[in-house]
Amino acid sequence: MGDFRMFVNLPVRIDILTLLPELLIGPFAASIMQRAQDKGLVEIHMHNIRDYSTDKHKNVDDYQYGGGAGMVMSIEPIVTIIEKLQKQRTYDEVIYMTPDGTLLEQNTCNDLSLKKNLIILCGHYKGIDERIREHFITREISIGSYVLSGGELAAAVLTDAIVRLLPGVLNDETSALTDSFQDKLLSPPVYTRPPEFRGWEVPKVLLSGNFPEIEKWREKKAIERTQERRPDLFDE
Ligand code: ADE
Repeated sequence: MGDFRMFVNLPVRIDILTLLPELLIGPFAASIMQRAQDKGLVEIHMHNIRDYSTDKHKNVDDYQYGGGAGMVMSIEPIVTIIEKLQKQRTYDEVIYMTPDGTLLEQNTCNDLSLKKNLIILCGHYKGIDERIREHFITREISIGSYVLSGGELAAAVLTDAIVRLLPGVLNDETSALTDSFQDKLLSPPVYTRPPEFRGWEVPKVLLSGNFPEIEKWREKKAIERTQERRPDLFDE
C-alpha cells in the first residue's frame, strides 16, 4: 500500500539547541533513528548553546531579575543561533521543551511530521528568558507532568515520535498507522511463539488463520483495553 503523502517534505531537518549534546547522541545513533538518517529521510543537527556565548567565561545563564533561587538561560546566545538558522532557511516551528508546555499527544507528532524544518530548544535551570518565548518560540511542548533535569530527553522523545512517522522510515510490518493512539485506541495484546508456555496459552483465535475473526478479536481487545486503561481517549 502506498503512502498517502507526497514526499515533498523529505528530508525533514531538525535543529536541536542544547547545552548537553552528549545526552542526545545515543538516542539518535541506533536502530530506527539511525536508519532514518542513513536513508536521508531526516537530518538532525545539534547546536551547543555554549558555543554561542560571548561571555568570557562562556556563561549561558544568569541570576533572575527580582531575586530568587535558580538561574535563567540568557537571551543572547539562543537568539544568535535561532536567527543564524532562520537566515539559512525557513523554519515551520521553533519548539521549546518545557514542563509548562502543551502535553505531547500523537496528533501533535502527526502534525509535526508533515513539516520541513524544525528547531527544538532544550531548556535548563529555571528556564529561558521569557522574551525568547514571546518573540521566537511558536510551540511549547511538555512530554508529561513531571520535571526532568533538562529538555534534552524530552527533545529526544519528541524527535523519535516524529521521525518514525516519516514515510519510508518504518516498513509495512511496523507501520506507524497501526500504533496505539493513531485511531484513539490502545493496541490489542500481541503474542509470539511458543503457543503454550508453562500452561499459559495464546488465544486460540490467533492460531486459527481466520483473518476476519482475528481482526474482530483485535478490535474488541483494543476497545476493552482502552476502556480499562484510558477511558479519557473515548471522551475526546
Ligand atoms: N523539561 C523538563 N521537564 C520537561 C518535561 N516534562 N517536558 C518537556 N521538557 C521538559
